[in-house]
Formats: sequence, C-alpha cells, structure tokens
Amino acid sequence: MNLYEQAVDAHHYLSALTTIKPKIGLILGSGLGSIVEEMTHKVHVPFEEIPHFTKISTEGHVGEVVLGKLKGVEVIALNGRYHFYDGYPLSVITFPVRVMKMFGVDTLILTNACGAINMNFKPGELMIIEDHLNLVSNNPLIGENISEFGPRFPDASEIYTKSLRKIAQDSAAELGFSMQQGVYAWWTGPSYETPAEIKMIRTLGADAVGMSTVPEALVASHMGMKVLGISCLTNMASGILDQKLSHQEVLEVAASVNVKFRNLIKKIVKKL
Ligand code: HPA
Repeated sequence: MNLYEQAVDAHHYLSALTTIKPKIGLILGSGLGSIVEEMTHKVHVPFEEIPHFTKISTEGHVGEVVLGKLKGVEVIALNGRYHFYDGYPLSVITFPVRVMKMFGVDTLILTNACGAINMNFKPGELMIIEDHLNLVSNNPLIGENISEFGPRFPDASEIYTKSLRKIAQDSAAELGFSMQQGVYAWWTGPSYETPAEIKMIRTLGADAVGMSTVPEALVASHMGMKVLGISCLTNMASGILDQKLSHQEVLEVAASVNVKFRNLIKKIVKKL
C-alpha cells in the first residue's frame, strides 16, 4: 500500500466513527491542546487505534484525533503531534495531514510553542508565521512523489496564506490584542539551541525557533491547502537572557496564554 492508499484507509476508518465532515484542520502544539475541551459532538480517537498511524511512544505526550464542532464549525483536531526529535520519520509526522486532506480539509491551522529570537518579542505573545526557514536538512516530500497529493516541485512562495494571516490579525484586534508576525525556523531539537546557534539563526533571518510545524506546513501546502501558523512565544531563545531554558517553563507560559489562544482560534474558525 502506498501512502495515498494508507491515507484513504485511515480516512475510511475515522469517517465511519462520526458524521462530522471537517473542512478545517487544527494541530495543537505543546500546552495548547485544551481547546478540544470546548469541542462538541466529538469523538476522540487515540493515534494507535487508527490504521497506519504510529503509536506515540513518548511518556506524557498525548496523541489523538478529535473530530467535532468548535463554535458550531466542524473541525478535525490533532491533540498532540509526532515530533522529529522523538525519532519518527517525516512521513509519519505528516501522515495525519494527508488524512485530513482525504476528509476534504482545505485549511490547516498549525500551532506550536517556540522561542523568541527577535528582541522586540516578549514571552507570552503570539506570533503569526509569515514564512519559515527549514534548517533541518530534510523535507517530508523527499521520495517518490504521489501525484494524487500534489506536484513533484511545489511552489513555496506563500506556504502561509496571506489572507489567513490577515484574518488572524483582525481576529486578535477584535479581541483586544495584537500579534507579532515573523519567520519561524525549524530546528530538530530535542536539545534547545546554543547561544551561538541562535545568533546564526537570527542572522539567517528568523524571528522565532521551534521543533515542529514546518513538515506539516510543507505537506499541507503540497496538497494545495491554505495554511495558518500561530506560534506561542514561550521564552526568549537561548543566550538572550541570562537564564537556562526548560520544558517546564515552556509548558507554563503556553498554559498562561491558554484563554487568549482559545478565544483567538475560535474567532478565526468562525470567520473561515
Ligand atoms: N527553542 C526551540 N524550541 C522551543 C523553544 C526554544 O527556545 N521554546 C519552545 N520550543
């Protein structure tokens, strides 16, 4: 079975569990998953129950597909995701996005927690991803191209859809806050960057750095989906402040913006 047939199979399994027919996909980053509590008419399906999904082996990481309604809008959400630093191949990491496409999802909202490189940014702020830098010498589209998904050489000049960025910015303004906008650099992790690496990444043109999102964005864009990326800046990147980075701090800051983040996502989803 090739990847396309596997995605058809996984979709077949999931669609039999619900009448929800989502056009919007949502991938929830570290500490940002609680929005699924606000979904109604929902089914939770652990990754390991879905054909061709890989079990999440990392302790403390959830991995489930949640199909339901958010503010009355049908969505398919991933609560938890596969990370490259856990050793999963990019085909596994991006497989849920392929399956979303089988549902007819045409808009993908990607969220993550990341470190701020731009000195004008502050922890606790949200950033709209304008573009990305792929600093991991890999790409989920390497390998035989499956033309049912998209072209061999996809355009990458507007992976993060301009009109969605505007909707996100307007939604934040209506909620009384503004969001930063910038370039997200993908770093493998799991170690945080060194101060020298952050200097390099800044020189290369990034405003923020994190360990996810880029593979999913590339695959979504390959299939012609519109993509919105929202990052929660949980900390200043390594070496900017005289303090060490910790996953605990990342989770705490992500949790502290929870309400703002949920309200934003709900507003955006209503406007799509
Ligand atoms: N670097 C990489 N990934 C991250 C960071 C960071 O500083 N903070 C949260 N995720």
